[in-house]
Amino acid sequence: MTTGSAALLTAERARDIVGVAILAASIHNTQPWRWQYADGALELHADRSRQLTVADPYGRQLVVSCGGALYHAQIGARMQGLVPEIRRFPDGEESDLLARMTVTGERPPTQQERDIFAAIGERHTDRRPFGSDSLPLAVVDEVRAAVEAQGAFLHSFDHRDDRIELAAMISRSDTQEDDSPEYQAELRRWSRTDPDAVDGVPRYAVAADEDSRQSEFAVRNFDVAKEAAEISVESQHVERPAVLLIGTDTDSRTAHLEAGAGLAATMLLLTVRKWAASPLGQVVDLISSRERLRAMIGGGYPQMLLRVGRPHVTERAKATPRRPIDDVLTLA
Ligand SMILES: Cc1cc2nc3c(=O)[nH]c(=O)nc-3n(C[C@H](O)[C@H](O)[C@H](O)COP(=O)(O)O)c2cc1C
Repeated sequence: MTTGSAALLTAERARDIVGVAILAASIHNTQPWRWQYADGALELHADRSRQLTVADPYGRQLVVSCGGALYHAQIGARMQGLVPEIRRFPDGEESDLLARMTVTGERPPTQQERDIFAAIGERHTDRRPFGSDSLPLAVVDEVRAAVEAQGAFLHSFDHRDDRIELAAMISRSDTQEDDSPEYQAELRRWSRTDPDAVDGVPRYAVAADEDSRQSEFAVRNFDVAKEAAEISVESQHVERPAVLLIGTDTDSRTAHLEAGAGLAATMLLLTVRKWAASPLGQVVDLISSRERLRAMIGGGYPQMLLRVGRPHVTERAKATPRRPIDDVLTLA
């Protein structure tokens, strides 16, 4: 922490940065983060009270979610012309202090940063059926570079045999979770029908009758309340989305943060290029299927999978709610 950072990263700027950070995706929209600002340093803490103890018993996906928020925070800082410096786990990997941001100088944002920032308000998890457009290789390469810049790697499931095997793995994980009363109860706890809810997954963001979706890959079934889920899964043809995996070379908590940044960078870049995406998390929730997936891709640690495509209609998927900034940010 320097006097320089205190002059540049003011409390007001930190508040704006947190406003950008909280728009990140998070598992079941748990928003498992707390932010603290003092003397030119903005800290990101894990909020363990929001961890999914059934779907995410080790808090891996909690840290992945926070990694996405940290990436958003960096873009938020860049839009203010600040050059952020991030220290991950400054108190060690066991600590719930995940990262500390300070500022080392000023530089105007690049056009690419501006484009990514513009995508932040437009990016929403899109569970609607996708059409038959196939994701161009050039976009996959661009996404790969963005993921690698965050310290993670990208694997694209292009080969027919791999896709068949992956579809079976996802389907098996999906069934296992569907059959678990504990998993279902947790999903219900994070499912929202109240229009004033500030977290959780609202009915309008989820598909009704997920079981009848005609897709190569099963999408997580959020329709636990069996009421008013708004997205129709009806489609003229079988969906064959692109599937991208974000992985890391180790399974440390630092790697989980990096994977989260890679996931956010991927979703935002896809938004810039007018592609839609939704995570396929079931297969990495469970230790056994995650291990099988790891063997299938030949090593490394799978952190998240994304289905990518274009829905039949041009309008964007709907935004989900967020907790107010002042509920997640403490100013010292
Ligand atoms: C680590 C992680 C895992 C997720 N897993 C799934 C999933 O398995 N299925 C799904 O449809 N969405 C999944 N999501 C998306 C969240 O449900 C979504 O981000 C959240 O509801 C907020 O909505 P938004 O992304 O539209 O802002 C996941 C997101 C993250 C960050």
